[in-house]
Amino acid sequence: MSSTVITNIKQLIGTRVESHPLRGKELANLPSIEDAYLIIEDNEIAEYGSMLHLKTTIGHQPSTIDATNQFILPAWCDSHTHLVFAGSRESEFVDKLKGLTYSEINAKGGGILNSAKKLNETSENELFNQAWKRLEEVSKLGTGAIEIKSGYGLTLDAELKMLRVIKKLKEKSNLHIRSTFLGAHTFPLEYRENHRGYIDLIINEMLPVIAKEKLAEYIDVFCEKGFFNVEEMERICKAGMGYGLKPKLHVNQLNSIGGIQSGIGLGAISLDHLETMTSEDIHSLSSSKTIGTLLPTAAFFLRMPFQPARELIDAGCIIALASDYNPGSSPSGNMNFVLSLSCVQMKMLPEEAINAATINGAYAMEFGNDLGSITIGKKANLIFTKPIPSLAYLPYAFGTNLIDKVMINGNFIH
Ligand code: NIG
Ligand code: FE
Repeated sequence: MSSTVITNIKQLIGTRVESHPLRGKELANLPSIEDAYLIIEDNEIAEYGSMLHLKTTIGHQPSTIDATNQFILPAWCDSHTHLVFAGSRESEFVDKLKGLTYSEINAKGGGILNSAKKLNETSENELFNQAWKRLEEVSKLGTGAIEIKSGYGLTLDAELKMLRVIKKLKEKSNLHIRSTFLGAHTFPLEYRENHRGYIDLIINEMLPVIAKEKLAEYIDVFCEKGFFNVEEMERICKAGMGYGLKPKLHVNQLNSIGGIQSGIGLGAISLDHLETMTSEDIHSLSSSKTIGTLLPTAAFFLRMPFQPARELIDAGCIIALASDYNPGSSPSGNMNFVLSLSCVQMKMLPEEAINAATINGAYAMEFGNDLGSITIGKKANLIFTKPIPSLAYLPYAFGTNLIDKVMINGNFIH
């Protein structure tokens, strides 16, 4: 048995005897232990407590890591990303700075279809290499678990290519990864006037192969005016659920068109984006078990109003924070910046933001039993901070990398 003792931890954050998704007021409670130790056995958290209670006689010879002046917290659980994509779209970004509108950019072949074109021209190997670099990059920034969507393929072959890349990432990486099928991201040009035709393709051609090859755990739909309406979303989700895929959905980014109520009715694990929420939407979400996942970097990058985090928390919703890492609306997967933005722009408290980015993010990927808190039996996915004066310093000192080391499954990443 391999065993590691971490000693003299300035503060061990997120210590929980048991865990469950945190709702409303519970989100502000982030238990911690000062001057702590933590024992890891076979990649799992085996024991933790105050240094005063560390028994000096441990049966076998463990390796010891001294964490003087360091905070240790659960690694980020980023429950919504589009990390597999081809190339980038900074020319659209510059066009927007020069004043082009979203529809003008779309008319120039921009947006999701631009990424789909690039992706269709990129080999599976090359796509994997690009995604692998991003995964390495975000893991160094503290992400230990991540959900990744398809949705830039929009043809049978290209959607399968994306999902196979995600599968390969799962096989080769130490990170905990979930895969989501987002064939319903937008309508390809040739189906603009034939929505039914594309949805039939998703249901009759894509889903059976995805199920057969076990390429996804979740199904997602971009439910918005100009994209997929509520009935279309329901049809796609029900077909996916027939194959065992659970809904995790893009709703209420630009409009409130009933996606919240429909998603809850479908038993969605999470409803994501939520920039545009009516009081009825907030009420519906608060009386459900569905997690509301907020993506503040997307609101930031698109200069949209931020998600109403305070109202959602005060109403008693379960909320998570995620990066939405994608080439169009959030070309960054840095969860530390997500943390800062959620405090600065949405007035979340540091404790709330950390819980939303760890334990609730874990539950938004159904990893809650294994990740997201310092709990005996959970996997050792940990962030070791550089010396910082207090926990609030993390979101406060935005843009500075305050992470010293990251441990995934009991091993430090390099
Ligand atoms: O989650 N909103 C839909 N999809 C992505 C952005 C798509 C793109 O522009 O590439 C998002 O923000
Ligand atoms: Fe997204």
